[in-house]
Amino acid sequence: MEPAQTLVSAAAAQEGVQLRWQQRNWSCDRYVAQGAMMPEDALEDLEAFDAIFLGAVGRPDVPDHISLWGMLIPIRRRFHQYVNLRPVRSFAGIASPLRPEVLGTFDVLVVRENVEGEYSEVGGRVYSGRPEELAIQESVFTRAGVERVVRAGFDAAAGRRGVLTSATKSNGLVHSMPFWDEIVAEVAEEHPGVEVASMHIDALAAACVSRPSTLDVIVGSNLFGDIMSDLTAAVAGSLGIAPSANLSLGGDGPSMFEPVHGSAPDIAGKGVANPIGQVWSGALMLRDLGLERAHDTLLSAIEQLLSSTDVRTADLGGSASTEEVASTLESLLAPAGTSRS
Ligand code: NAD
Ligand code: IPM
Ligand code: MN
Repeated sequence: MEPAQTLVSAAAAQEGVQLRWQQRNWSCDRYVAQGAMMPEDALEDLEAFDAIFLGAVGRPDVPDHISLWGMLIPIRRRFHQYVNLRPVRSFAGIASPLRPEVLGTFDVLVVRENVEGEYSEVGGRVYSGRPEELAIQESVFTRAGVERVVRAGFDAAAGRRGVLTSATKSNGLVHSMPFWDEIVAEVAEEHPGVEVASMHIDALAAACVSRPSTLDVIVGSNLFGDIMSDLTAAVAGSLGIAPSANLSLGGDGPSMFEPVHGSAPDIAGKGVANPIGQVWSGALMLRDLGLERAHDTLLSAIEQLLSSTDVRTADLGGSASTEEVASTLESLLAPAGTSRS
């Protein structure tokens, strides 16, 4: 978080904007010490901010459903951050696990439904400890909820290469997914210029590996979008680079910016995590705040780092620390459109 904040501030400062940060140490550590991830009035507290910049949450000794439903998910829901944009692409200087001729030019945007769907509190567990013990987890798809995210998918595709893939599973999930498909077909009528295809999520996952360069925008439910965004990041080269923007498009509070990856417990605290996903998320935040050029400045620093230096963290095959990557990025910051000697 800290190196990313420094870079985001520096990029904004180049545009004459001084960002004012306030920090909230809401975390699994807080949960262990005080019994709650965040204070009771946390959501009211966040309401007045222009944006939220979030570092990944999760600690192996705290159950994930407690850490995530105690903080991240309530924030997404309270502020109706119903669209989660997760762009990722290939970069010169990052090796994908796929052969270059299979990868081609890979540039995708996952538009993920972010507040309903499979992520639901409806259901329960009964008969604990008995052979007939069972768990039921209901999905909740509302017409309004599906329509608005699908519309965001079409809008995004119209501003890119005009190709939208809708992730479905109507052959297995017989209520929710045919409903989703119907709404996609309805919204498609409003966007004759966008080429839309519906793909079952299993086949889509395979296509993402076997013909990734044919994909442009993928719109999917909460769970499908979650899975596709880790997959597309891995295809691009590493989960450590992928950003996300949780957008409160209806203006019901601040939007939130965070990397796609989690707290990476296997490397946490060692100073070797790739900061690019967090920095790129900061760039998306700057763009949302109206600082398009500051966004471009950060992206161009990332591109230069990867194409003209060998400074990179272990997930990208290097041996640099988080700090070394961040300080190299800082040295590469130059207002977009200018070059630096
Ligand atoms: P993860 O994304 O934390 O890690 C998966 C793999 O990717 C690990 O090998 C990890 O080392 C690697 N990785 C992730 N980020 C990296 C980075 N920046 N640089 C280099 N390598 C990186 O996924 P997980 O293991 O499933 O989850 C770990 C914890 O994070 C869990 O508690 C989970 O619930 C939580 N989580 C939180 C968020 C969030 O707060 N937004 C997102 C995803 C997972
Ligand atoms: C993400 C994460 C979260 C999600 C988890 C940690 C609840 O995986 O932001 O991608 O699934 O939304
Ligand atoms: Mn995820």
